[in-house]
Order: sequence, then C-alpha cells, then structure tokens
Amino acid sequence: MFQAEKFFNIQKSSLAHEFYYFEKLESTNSTAAILARKGCPEGTIVLANEQTKGRGRKGADWYSPPDTNLYFSLVLYPDISRLQYLPFAAGLAVVGALDQLGLQPELKWPNDILVRGKKISGIMMESSLESNSVQHVILGCGINVNVQDFTHELVPSATSIVVETGVLTSRESILASFLMEFETLYEKVKKISWDEFSLEIERRSSYIQGCPVRIALDGETWEGITAGLDSYGGLMLKTPSGKRVFYAGEVQSCRKN
Ligand code: BTN
Repeated sequence: MFQAEKFFNIQKSSLAHEFYYFEKLESTNSTAAILARKGCPEGTIVLANEQTKGRGRKGADWYSPPDTNLYFSLVLYPDISRLQYLPFAAGLAVVGALDQLGLQPELKWPNDILVRGKKISGIMMESSLESNSVQHVILGCGINVNVQDFTHELVPSATSIVVETGVLTSRESILASFLMEFETLYEKVKKISWDEFSLEIERRSSYIQGCPVRIALDGETWEGITAGLDSYGGLMLKTPSGKRVFYAGEVQSCRKN
C-alpha cells in the first residue's frame, strides 16, 4: 500500500494539494480526466496502488502490478502555447528524481526514460482542447520502482529502480522528488522559449542530436542521423533522401559504442 501520510510528511511542492489515492483503478489517467471535467484544481494527483487497465502510448498496456511501482496522473490547465513542453518536462522531472538516487537516466524521445538502455518509466499526456484553448491536460506517469519480476515480453526491455540499485526504494519519496522537480520545470516552461527548452531536453538525451537511429512508424522504417527537435517537439532526421520530421515512432539507436 502507498502511504499517503508518509508522502505528505515529506512532500514540499505546492502541487498535489488535492490528492486522490485508490488501492485499485482501471487507469489513473481516466479517473483524473473525470475529475478535471468536474473542475478539480491544477496540480491534483490521482495515484493508484494497482491499475487493471493501465494504458501506455500507441494503445499499449502499462504493466501495473500492486504494491511495487508508481502509477499516477497530474491534472494541469496550461496555456495552449506550453502544451508541447509538458510531456518533456515530466520526462525531465523523472530524470531528475532518478538522478538523486545515483542512477544515470536518459530521456528517449519522445517520452521514455531509460537506464542502461532499458525502460524504467513512461509518460503519457492526454489533453482536452476546445476552440484553440486547453480544457485540461492529464500527465500520466508510470515509474518502475520495486518490481523485480517482469512479464516475459518485458524482460528484455524493462528495468526498475530495485533492479538497478539492488535496494527497495520508497515510492512516497520518489513521488515527492518528482513533484519538486516538475514544479520547478513547470514554472520555467511558462517563461522560456522552445529553443531554450529543447536545448535542455537535448542535454539529457543522447538520441536527439547527431545520433544514428532507425525509426519505425506504421510498418515503415527510416534510417538517418537525428538533427534535434522542431518547434512542435518533433524529432528531425537527416536521411539519405532528405530531412524528415517524426511526431510519433519507435526510435532505436544504431550507435556502435
Ligand atoms: C508509455 O510509455 O507508453 C506511457 C506509459 C504511461 C503509464 C502511466 S501509469 C499512470 C497513468 N495511467 C495510465 O493508464 N497510464 C499512465
């Protein structure tokens, strides 16, 4: 069980003013969207100890066993001009929280967080827009904290904090660190230009600039050298047949070392 009281004793961010804890939910993103439609305050957190229909990007499931990991959603009401910053800000906040544990996390475009090349966390942003303004944004975040046994399909590609460090870590303290990191980044993204922010993203990702990669999308594969992010957060790729920009796709590094 996640200990909400312990979390509130250590958490210092001004987010999570409203905090909804559930032992079991289908998906924290779905519940958070219901609350957002009812007008819950910015910074509301929905957290579940277990998800029965945890959702990942591209229609994938998110492995959500009980008592081990973090599954939570954050409700925001940003200006539409900041929308594209937010999933990256959440990714950077996870990177910051994992840095504090001595891990060496990196962002993999668009929103995966890897340690030693394996996925330790994923971010999924869902937004509701109406006539060019944001009704709400739900930032859903899954962090593999204390899970040691992955499903057969995940074994080659997934990792967790306990697998990497050898010690069980408190989910309450990771969530508190994430929120501190995210709060700072959220204030920053309200002010800085996309160009400045994308440099910050590039600093935490070896994939985004000058990296030979293979990108798979809709059954096709492109190879080339990454050339940074465009002004919408798309990944630019120099290919033998010219420059392309990707807004979705599965990136695989082809670096030899
Ligand atoms: C991905 O990498 O595909 C994104 C995974 C996002 C998973 C989180 S867990 C909490 C929130 N609720 C969900 O159903 N999904 C997100």
